[in-house]
Amino acid sequence: MTEAAVCPLPHERDHPLLPPIGFAEAVSRGPVKMRWLNGVEAWIVASYAGARQVLADPRFVTRKGGHPEMRTDEGEAVVDADQPGNINGIDGEAHMRLRRPLSRGFMVKRMNELRPRIQQIVDEHLDVMEAKGAPADLVTSLCLPLPSLVIAELLGVPPEHQELFQAAAREMFGKNGSKDEYTAQATRLGEVLAPIVAEKRAAGTNDDMIGLMANDTDFSMEELIFLCIGLLVAGHETTANFLGMFTLHLFEKPDQREILRRDPSRADVVVEELLRYTVGQLGGAGLTRRATEDVEVDGVLIKAGDWVSVSLYANLDEELCPRAGELDLDREVVSHVGFGFGPHQCLGANLARVELQIGLRSLFTRFPNLRPVTPVTEMHYRTDMITYGAAEIPVEW
Ligand code: HEM
Repeated sequence: MTEAAVCPLPHERDHPLLPPIGFAEAVSRGPVKMRWLNGVEAWIVASYAGARQVLADPRFVTRKGGHPEMRTDEGEAVVDADQPGNINGIDGEAHMRLRRPLSRGFMVKRMNELRPRIQQIVDEHLDVMEAKGAPADLVTSLCLPLPSLVIAELLGVPPEHQELFQAAAREMFGKNGSKDEYTAQATRLGEVLAPIVAEKRAAGTNDDMIGLMANDTDFSMEELIFLCIGLLVAGHETTANFLGMFTLHLFEKPDQREILRRDPSRADVVVEELLRYTVGQLGGAGLTRRATEDVEVDGVLIKAGDWVSVSLYANLDEELCPRAGELDLDREVVSHVGFGFGPHQCLGANLARVELQIGLRSLFTRFPNLRPVTPVTEMHYRTDMITYGAAEIPVEW
């Protein structure tokens, strides 16, 4: 067994779509310890087998202290460890109690029923983009409003609150954010959500997600509100980001874009490969866990109390598929870990898939000559948030 020296978690990128400089080399020989922005040292597990092992093993619990890419005080989590309704910060039966009823709301069948409405939202936004004319910013024209409107409708939150949620998410995921700022944003969102939740509970209706949670579960008001905040924030930020990043990867790889153009009906398979590749190429710290016992992973002994970062760079491991470092839209679907793995695997994966499939297919079918106005390498990227991505994507057609 080997113990590597601790180095800082790399952040600088020499290409905006590739992992931070030095990350791939550092993790190529197995788990290494890296220092997060907040000073905490953690094992980075970046192999496919290691990632699945850690994420499925109940001896690794979800984060209770700090985020690898947030400059909060050492080890301090922005969300209180005992915050009711914090689904991504609890484990075991307490976690399943929250997760089970929510999973029903995100089942494939239910998400497929949303397809016509999602298509309508996409078409309307592309109509507006076309009418305004080029150049357009793809982030504000489609990537951000699409998932933001869909999650609000699914939950049953009026669309006029959309901008408030987008702004709050930006603050809550900021790298320089503090616990106080996070709490202030969560409180502001809670004040908007509380009357909506209370009204649905009083009416006893379960025709949207808030109604379902309010009336078909024993969740407390505090749990309900925090769950809604989590879904609204997680429900738009990630999908918006990846729709943008997918487009940029396709701009950089015209041969792959041609595969999508040739057969848009394969959008489901194409999105899966783009997820695998794009999430993998982000590299970095990924998902935080803490060992509750000594466990061996990929030949190193992770001791009880050690922090572990599961890097989704694992999606580029040759153990998962041949030529894993290449984007190949002809590839059949493989079991990637882009949505995580194990008990905390992404709850909204089926929704994200449908949004990404419809969004991507419609965009490139309707604008076959879509192209960036400025080179992808010169665009502006968000490095101040824990969700790295394009701040704006200026396009013409
Ligand atoms: C491309 C889009 C998305 C990606 C790449 C993504 C990725 C992930 C990943 C990797 C996890 C696992 C976290 C962990 O193990 O600690 C996760 C969890 C989660 N995601 Fe997503 N997500 C996406 C979209 C969504 C959407 C649309 C929603 C909601 C509608 C959502 C809601 C959640 C929730 C609630 C969890 C926590 C589940 C739990 O802890 O049990 N995500 N997501």
